[in-house]
Amino acid sequence: MKNKLDGVEEILLMGPGPSCIHDSVYEALGLKTLGHMDPYFIDIMDEIKKLLQTVMKTHNRMTIPISGTGSAGMETCFVNLIERDDPVLILINGVFGQRMQDVATRLGADVDSLEFEWGTPVIPEKVEDMLEKKNYKIVAVVHAETSTGVRNPVEEIGDLLRGKETLYLVDTVTSLGGIEVAMDAWGIDVLYSGTQKCLSCPPGLAPVSVSDRALDVILGRKTKVPNWYLDVSMLTKYWGGETRVYHHTAPINMNYALYQSLFLSVEEGLENVFRRHLECHNMLVRGLDDLGINMLVSPDFRLPMLNSIHIPEGVDDAEVRSKLRSNHKIEIGAGLGPLAGKIWRIGLMGHTARKENVTRVLTALKEVLNK
Ligand SMILES: Cc1ncc(COP(=O)(O)O)c(C=O)c1O
Repeated sequence: MKNKLDGVEEILLMGPGPSCIHDSVYEALGLKTLGHMDPYFIDIMDEIKKLLQTVMKTHNRMTIPISGTGSAGMETCFVNLIERDDPVLILINGVFGQRMQDVATRLGADVDSLEFEWGTPVIPEKVEDMLEKKNYKIVAVVHAETSTGVRNPVEEIGDLLRGKETLYLVDTVTSLGGIEVAMDAWGIDVLYSGTQKCLSCPPGLAPVSVSDRALDVILGRKTKVPNWYLDVSMLTKYWGGETRVYHHTAPINMNYALYQSLFLSVEEGLENVFRRHLECHNMLVRGLDDLGINMLVSPDFRLPMLNSIHIPEGVDDAEVRSKLRSNHKIEIGAGLGPLAGKIWRIGLMGHTARKENVTRVLTALKEVLNK
């Protein structure tokens, strides 16, 4: 019988995620599986929590990987905090802000949204106006909007919320491990991420951190968290405390992989990791400029790890991406929503952010476009 897996080839992942994975992370995935209550695995869990606290720059005790992808992290944050009719403000300038709005609406929240043009950042003054009109339980924003390549001013929005009861919820799926995320200093109460972007681990876990203040709100709910699997109060009993209480069977090998990818980032030094992303981004922008290709986002709000570029006039979007995939073994991303057919998204996330990869994608693009 032919084994389908024999056909899996190595593709240079330069799209919006997943990103390339270091060999040592693949090796971690292949280690022997331990039991989910095994004392050695529990030691590894404790180390994962500490490494996540380091990468997120937080002291929050409740800092754990949720079993599920980034969207499970999003669901966890909203489902634990929202009770019916809670006023929530979602700041939207791309697909993932829209997804937050959908999740919060499904939970019966009283959702207001403030929308900004795709490719431009959230404007803090507009948020301030909204905050003057209404007391929100939660304000939520995406730090790195993967659908457009925009970095939103998370720190400035955090300043607007300082001293208020409002909880600040931030999506760091694409930013964590690629640019600075300073959860405590920026006043973020709840934060989620994913493993497959700048942490350079396969998709499958969603790091989440909850401040003590937000945990008090969760523990003081009038109604039960309507989702058993993602209930933080139950998860804390498995991930923390003196005696661990079984909740669900943790994906052991994915946790090994996450441990190893966090270990690599911390060992390299976060500042060095951020610099590597920025240098690769600058090199890519210069090379694209030489090819006559322009960036979508203005320099002040560009993400180094997600580069949205205008598709040159008269060029077939899908054909170029398909040739990059088949002839050069490179994946880049298409535009989404109103940007479909207008932009490509080139990812420089985690282990992908290396100069040889920038050279490779520029050379391949030049060849495909010249033909
Ligand atoms: C900013 C952002 N938030 C949330 C998600 C959802 O994560 P996942 O696809 O891992 O469920 C993504 C995925 O690309 C993302 O980029």
